[in-house]
Amino acid sequence: MSYNLLKGKKGIIFGALNSESIAWNIAERAYEEGATFTLTNTAVAMRMGETKQLAEKCNTEVIPADATNVEDLENLFKKSMEILGGKVDFILHSIGMSPNVRKHRVYNDLDYNYLSKTLDISAISFHKVLQTAWKLDAINEWGSIVALSYVAAQRTFYGYNDMADAKALLESIARSFGYIYGRERKVRINTVSQSPTITTAGSGVRGLGELLDFSERMSPLGNADAETCADYCVTLFSDLTKKVTMQNLFHDGGFSSMGMSLRAMRQYEKGLEIGWGLNPPKKK
Ligand SMILES: NC(=O)c1ccc[n+]([C@@H]2O[C@H](COP(=O)([O-])OP(=O)(O)OC[C@H]3O[C@@H](n4cnc5c(N)ncnc54)[C@H](O)[C@@H]3O)[C@@H](O)[C@H]2O)c1
Repeated sequence: MSYNLLKGKKGIIFGALNSESIAWNIAERAYEEGATFTLTNTAVAMRMGETKQLAEKCNTEVIPADATNVEDLENLFKKSMEILGGKVDFILHSIGMSPNVRKHRVYNDLDYNYLSKTLDISAISFHKVLQTAWKLDAINEWGSIVALSYVAAQRTFYGYNDMADAKALLESIARSFGYIYGRERKVRINTVSQSPTITTAGSGVRGLGELLDFSERMSPLGNADAETCADYCVTLFSDLTKKVTMQNLFHDGGFSSMGMSLRAMRQYEKGLEIGWGLNPPKKK
């Protein structure tokens, strides 16, 4: 159902690779809500993925850009403003990649060149997007910028590896730039911390199946999927959230506030070989 929440709003959406991508779902939902936007991804992703098909569906264009390359970003903003007929109102940063994860380098055996790439692609690119937009004055007053994060930025999750460090940096950039952009230009910047979701990037995480099951059992509302993430992001791009900024907003069915749930405890007990189960030993 459409509420016309983004009628007249213009944007740029990074990171839609295929129909599983969270950004893909957000683009479809933003289009439904009346937004016009350009799509962008790397040249390689454009060859391998289905971004062009999404562009046809949303009646728009794809502008290639490596988000770690400032010249590409300048070109992206200039072309987007030409196509859209002015400054933008929203930006989605939905980018993540770790060569260490891809090459199965564990956290206590990181390759540091890979680590630099992880940080550059998954976090510093966000600063580059913001700084480029700032210098080109490419965002309207009361604009809204969202980047996607994960709870491993704040708590340790087995297998998330150096992406945890990248997400911590990403969330920090949202706060630091959020202050400046809010103060000077009334633009808000937030991160949305999403449940584990089956996508191309998500599948790289070690033990994703178990992680999905665990967080499903721990979350009172169950895992949040890409479609509901799209609904949430649309509200953040809309005028209904004008004073929300510099926040990391959990979109995770309640997972981040839980310690232990009955469903997780029941499952855990089934797998106990030695332990207390639900009846801890009495004090002697
Ligand atoms: N899938 C999950 O479980 C999950 C959970 C929480 C947060 N997130 C975050 O959501 C975002 C989107 O990931 P996704 O799960 O939809 O996976 P995805 O693989 O569909 O999207 C990742 C995108 O990043 C793009 N990308 C990689 N390097 C780039 C570069 N140098 N320049 C521009 N784009 C580049 C890829 O081409 C791809 O489109 C990421 O930030 C990810 O960390 C994912």
